[in-house]
Amino acid sequence: MRGNLKAILADRLSLEERELLYRSYDVIGDTAIIRIPDALKHRSKVIAEAIMQTQRHVKTVLRQVTPVSGDLRLRKVEWIVGDKKAEALHKENGCLFKIALERCYFSPRLSHERMRISEQVKLGEVIVNMFSGVGCYSIVIAKHSTVEKVYSIDINPAAVRYMQENVKLNKVEGRVIPIEGDAKNIIQESLLNVADRILMPLPERAYEYLGFAAQALKQTGGWIHYYDFEYARKDESPVEKVRAKVGERLQNLGVYSEIPFGRIVRTTGPNWYQVAVDIQLTNLL
Ligand SMILES: C[S@@+](CC[C@H](N)C(=O)[O-])C[C@H]1O[C@@H](n2cnc3c(N)ncnc32)[C@H](O)[C@@H]1O
Repeated sequence: MRGNLKAILADRLSLEERELLYRSYDVIGDTAIIRIPDALKHRSKVIAEAIMQTQRHVKTVLRQVTPVSGDLRLRKVEWIVGDKKAEALHKENGCLFKIALERCYFSPRLSHERMRISEQVKLGEVIVNMFSGVGCYSIVIAKHSTVEKVYSIDINPAAVRYMQENVKLNKVEGRVIPIEGDAKNIIQESLLNVADRILMPLPERAYEYLGFAAQALKQTGGWIHYYDFEYARKDESPVEKVRAKVGERLQNLGVYSEIPFGRIVRTTGPNWYQVAVDIQLTNLL
């Protein structure tokens, strides 16, 4: 959930101060995580209290003090107001996710994507989720589709521990299988040619791992849900740029592919976009 901070704080900060605010913030369970520029750090409490007053279900406000970074996609936070805690319980798409806020990646902004993909899954499919985090895509799919199994890999031991807990919380044991490790190693050791569908929700490294994703698909082919960050000028389409780049990469790998769908998931900076494309691979023999 996001709110417009500038509007909420119209009567508490000067116009100059409001201009410095970031437009939005994340709410994970009953915890809001906000970014506050250094020049406004001394106003953190006022900002946090305004959020708690206007969103009654928010019981804790944390300040994000580092960007999401590194292979594990983690961020550091510090407490501003409310209950002091390191975990949150988030409800989304009829599922519950327990998350260690500093030790696992989670973004409520991917909620639409998780449901969009789950709606495509057909009876008895086997899926490999290469970058599962605490299991959100896998669990939403298991809850809302007739998938047989989602092998759910993550390299972060803390994320895998929370995924195991979330699998139990959502009663999808035996259908979502948490696996700790590097997706490329796990695929090569035990998941070659098993899947109808692959999820690659790690835009920073998906391009590099595309060949391993193709190896995990059944030889008759299947789908890859691929995420990337792309730069695009006003006269360019970021989706078309990703389509071209991925198509060329798969062609070089000797794989025939079509990309019937692509969308901008969100804007990440001036002229930068997070893009999702659905890739269909046929006949990998
Ligand atoms: C952007 S998060 C995806 C989170 C998840 N899909 C969700 O919906 O919340 C990327 C995840 O990939 C994991 N990761 C990074 N490199 C990896 C690798 N080589 N193999 C498996 N997992 C990896 C990180 O630990 C992180 O949890």
